[in-house]
Amino acid sequence: MSSVAAEVTLKRTWGLYEVYIGKKLVMAASGVVLVLYIFGHLAGNLQIYAGPERLNAYAGFLHAHTGLLWVARAVMMAAVGLHVWSSFLLWLDKRRARPIGYVKKDDVPASYASRTMMWSGPIVGAFVVFHILHLTAGGVPGLALREPVEGQYFAYQNVVGGFQHPMVALAYVVAIVLLTMHLYHGLWSMFQSVGISHPRYTPALKRTAHAVSILVAAGYISIPVSVTLGLVK
Ligand code: HEM
Repeated sequence: MSSVAAEVTLKRTWGLYEVYIGKKLVMAASGVVLVLYIFGHLAGNLQIYAGPERLNAYAGFLHAHTGLLWVARAVMMAAVGLHVWSSFLLWLDKRRARPIGYVKKDDVPASYASRTMMWSGPIVGAFVVFHILHLTAGGVPGLALREPVEGQYFAYQNVVGGFQHPMVALAYVVAIVLLTMHLYHGLWSMFQSVGISHPRYTPALKRTAHAVSILVAAGYISIPVSVTLGLVK
């Protein structure tokens, strides 16, 4: 190959690499926004243990700041859109690079979480749609929402009423397990995408991603479980 051809190939490869890294960074940045939402929402939801007045006042506070609420919703929707779009583009890149998969797939051990990324994401997305219909829009048959009266919200009664249906509680637990598996692998790949990957720190980073995901799962799952056990009613 002539030196000019080699230079053109190098530039093209570098350009493709930059585009690839760009997509990874969009995926990581949008993932960070979603993770922050998941932490914040958990902190809000855990107020259920402080009683109905506290959770309902919190819901009332959020709805009283309509402007901020819509800004947060717009940021979330943009993050979800970018996250889904970049994951689709990365999936296409992977397919183009290797249209026929490996014959022997188990020669590199992949964690369960990493192997389930492509389907745990859409299932979590479907759960969020169901969840918004359940607790925000009130469109799930058999799970009627108690509507606000003169600025008084009934988030507590709506959550408890929903989780008193064992199948609803179970569906939430399953969705949250998938969500946190997705979160675990997502956090871990984010560390790698932004270049925080070093043999010395890798075990600590993995442990951090693990611990954070387990705490998030435990926090969310505790709510349907507490209602099912009659500890929150
Ligand atoms: C035990 C688990 C959960 C409980 C008890 C819970 C509770 C709630 C409640 C009460 C609302 C309605 C707030 C209101 O409009 O007054 C809500 C909305 C919402 N939740 Fe959850 N949630 C849970 C899990 C999750 C998870 C795991 C996610 C994310 C993956 C999530 C994402 C959302 C979103 C996006 C909304 C709509 C917020 C808006 O109105 O803009 N929730 N949740």
